[in-house]
Amino acid sequence: MRISEVIQKIKDYSRGKDAHTNQPIDDALSRDQVLYGSIDKECTGIVTTCFASVEVIEKAHACGANLIISHEALFWNHGDHTDWLKAEKNSVYLRKKKLLDDYGITVWRDHDYIHSGMPGANKTWYDGIFKGFLHDTGLEKYYVPNINDSVKYSIPVMLNLPGLTVREVADMIIKGAGLNGIRLIGDPDAVVHNACIPMHLIGFADKETISMINIKNIDLLITMELIDYTVNEYMRDGACLGDPKAILACGHFNTEEPGMKYMLNWLPEALGTDTIPMTFIKSGDASQYILP
Ligand SMILES: [Fe+2]
Ligand SMILES: [Fe+2]
Repeated sequence: MRISEVIQKIKDYSRGKDAHTNQPIDDALSRDQVLYGSIDKECTGIVTTCFASVEVIEKAHACGANLIISHEALFWNHGDHTDWLKAEKNSVYLRKKKLLDDYGITVWRDHDYIHSGMPGANKTWYDGIFKGFLHDTGLEKYYVPNINDSVKYSIPVMLNLPGLTVREVADMIIKGAGLNGIRLIGDPDAVVHNACIPMHLIGFADKETISMINIKNIDLLITMELIDYTVNEYMRDGACLGDPKAILACGHFNTEEPGMKYMLNWLPEALGTDTIPMTFIKSGDASQYILP
């Protein structure tokens, strides 16, 4: 099968409409572009990963794959623009590019399509990324469906826990997602019931998240990003006032990578064949923790 066919079959298998706006994905504007290489060649093997790091590229080549499907950008910026890197003769860029050239590897990004919805039971759709996270961590059984959502597990993801400590939830995530640790804000022994994976916490729409925490009485946030100002401060003040408020700041890629592993569950059906070798290669937890 040609790489172009692989990509088209995955797009056709996906819901193809933004999970929040219901607008069809516009391929010209989508993040899901061919980030590197040619699609006009036979696919020798597929590697799925969150981020096509240098290490992932090396491992993909070692297992004979010439297509990496990544969830995130390849060259470290939104839109994967490379003009600035070329102009500056950025050395990391040039060396990573050479590796892809030497190995003949194509990189395609599956971001918008996998979040748009993958087919579930009884003609339902689920977010392929957060499904993977909930599946691997064992948190899926606590999921609270929202009847207004056309796509299950879209963020914000609400969870109703049966009174677990923050530490117990952290253990489930660390083991399930294979992390080096999790940054914690709050009391690890606080017993929490209402948890949420919120939208991105990057500073400019965080008032909405604080409103949601207040209205829905959220005890625990399981976050992709976390900055010191806004939601971090709010939960800290709540905890200081005696509320069971905590944040497990897992990291963006750490939260999303299990979905690219889960992709192997539906990829053979999407392609209509299991004859192409398909492998998940973990780009892995980029954080180490130095404790006193
Ligand atoms: Fe992401
Ligand atoms: Fe994502």
